[in-house]
Amino acid sequence: MRLSPAEITKMKGSRRISTLTCYDYSFAKQLDGIVDIILVGDSLGNVVLGLDSTQGVTINDMLRHTEAVSRGVSRSMVVSDLSYKSYKTTRQAVANAKKLLHAGAQAVKPEGRPEIVRALCKAGIPVMGHVGLLPQTASKWGVTGKDQKTAREIIALAHEIADAGAFSLVIECVPAVLAKDVTRSVVIPTIGIGAGPHCDGQVLVLYDMLGLFGDFTPKFVNRYAELGQAVKCAVGDYTRDVRSGRFPSKKHSF
Ligand code: KIV
Repeated sequence: MRLSPAEITKMKGSRRISTLTCYDYSFAKQLDGIVDIILVGDSLGNVVLGLDSTQGVTINDMLRHTEAVSRGVSRSMVVSDLSYKSYKTTRQAVANAKKLLHAGAQAVKPEGRPEIVRALCKAGIPVMGHVGLLPQTASKWGVTGKDQKTAREIIALAHEIADAGAFSLVIECVPAVLAKDVTRSVVIPTIGIGAGPHCDGQVLVLYDMLGLFGDFTPKFVNRYAELGQAVKCAVGDYTRDVRSGRFPSKKHSF
């Protein structure tokens, strides 16, 4: 049985929530049952499709990757991003969120937009909120909420999203003290990325923490492996073996 939104909400104050993004079946099978939440993030635009932002990710991209990930997951919870172009109106948001649930997600994550969160929750769709840096609409990249005005706006938005019925909340790229304030003052668990150590959980982009994406590495990323280097080594060994005739050998031949 997969973890449910209610079980994730209950973890606040008892166990820190481990979350990673994932975009395909094979990686999903590796992550399943180890992390609590697997997020089919629209960061797939950057790390899988090679786009320079998440705005070009379509609902069809999200559906295809949600289906692939879902086939490999039986224990962790699966959440999918509601991609930027998939919801101008609340009606479109609800219709496309239902498609993502049909594809195997258990919840969806829009960025900001409390009115969208409210409509989704009313329609019975579990929602993970997202405040702080909102990559789908941000005009510039980096830490937000450093001055009092934007910090207050982020706190207010977090409360609106929690009141609208979200079961958890991503906080992206804000000062640690602000994430601490939000975490203390909302009833739902917060999941930080570049938001310091006080959140109820953490999320990273899988390809960043495995060392598979090298175009840029934000300061908040900790690399737990260097798979990019391992892949280059393996591909080099293979190419040498092909060129020298060492591969395929008798044991690989019929
Ligand atoms: O798409 C994504 O990877 C995300 C995380 C940064 C939270 O939304």
